[in-house]
Amino acid sequence: MALRFEVLGRFNRARAAQLTLPHFTCQTPLFMPVGTQGTIKGLTTDQLEEIGCQIILGNTYHLELRPGSQLIDDLGGLHKFMNWKRALLTDSGGFQMVSLLHLADITEEGVTFQSPVDGKPMLLTPEESIHIQNNIGADIIMALDDVVKTTITGPRIEEAMYRTLRWIDRCIAAHKKPDVQNLFGIVQGGLDPVLRDICVKGLVERNLPGYAIGGLAGGEDKDSFWRVVAQCTAGLPEDKPRYVMGVGYPLDIVVCSALGADMYDCVYPTRTARFGTALVPEGVLKLKQSVMATDERPIDPTCPCMVCKNYTRAYLHCLVTKDAMGSQLLSYHNLSFMMRLSRDLHMSILEGRFPEFVRGFLRMQFPKGD
Ligand code: GUN
Ligand code: ZN
Repeated sequence: MALRFEVLGRFNRARAAQLTLPHFTCQTPLFMPVGTQGTIKGLTTDQLEEIGCQIILGNTYHLELRPGSQLIDDLGGLHKFMNWKRALLTDSGGFQMVSLLHLADITEEGVTFQSPVDGKPMLLTPEESIHIQNNIGADIIMALDDVVKTTITGPRIEEAMYRTLRWIDRCIAAHKKPDVQNLFGIVQGGLDPVLRDICVKGLVERNLPGYAIGGLAGGEDKDSFWRVVAQCTAGLPEDKPRYVMGVGYPLDIVVCSALGADMYDCVYPTRTARFGTALVPEGVLKLKQSVMATDERPIDPTCPCMVCKNYTRAYLHCLVTKDAMGSQLLSYHNLSFMMRLSRDLHMSILEGRFPEFVRGFLRMQFPKGD
């Protein structure tokens, strides 16, 4: 195992931990920004360090298409290629293909899809996904899983869960660098507690360095989503990190952390920035609105970030959707907000004031109590 996970403090099920990875020691709860082609759109790696970012995500699928994982390996791995000295995580690629390419088809062998480059049929097997991720060299790599939307019902959910369990053994067998890269398994099983339970037990038996909860944030209602997270965290080992995939609304991070989850990733903070939306303690601030045109305040007067120290809402209103600098500055602020939220969760759990923190957070987001 190439990680150490030390729980430093708890409040009921919530944990504040230190996760030591080959390239960096991270504090949890932890939000991980998503990069696709080896970059977080609009931010330099210096800026990511400046805002306290500890680990970022890369996508096997995107990196394999361009520039290719063999080239990344030849050039010394993704850390060196993108000049990022802290931790990296890569997702296995299947989820991206299924969600991006409607032509993807899943068989026992792997995920088949048409190459967006030349239209040729391609096959991503568990072995190939791990081989590519070994080439990229991230601190954490993800197993190839069979993901189905949580809004689907019937035998397909069960088939995907059992296939995910069969594929984990192929991933483990294919993993060539367990001493420097941590392979996480992914719990599937839709909204069915029996299937989730079988998957949790099956993965825990494999004694992996960490576990992810997948197949969520796909349109199911919040109650079902939170119930699945609560069930999975209860069944996963206390001494291993738990990662809820694709989750990144501030409210979901706070709730999932209360339920015992540790890690999150989502494109939301950067994607919404490109549409002119800033994250603030009250929820969101839409910079495109005409009232912003003359507003001389920063995005958030309580935010210590570079953008809030230097720019007015009026200026950002003027840039947003017209100049790349607009989305860059909003992405900088939004990721700063997520990093601050992660730190606040960590510190409040450590200092025994997690309930007060959660109450304060909810009061800001829902002032009318709804
Ligand atoms: N990203 C968001 N959800 C998932 C999931 O269920 N599996 C994988 N591999 N990636 C995800
Ligand atoms: Zn700010």
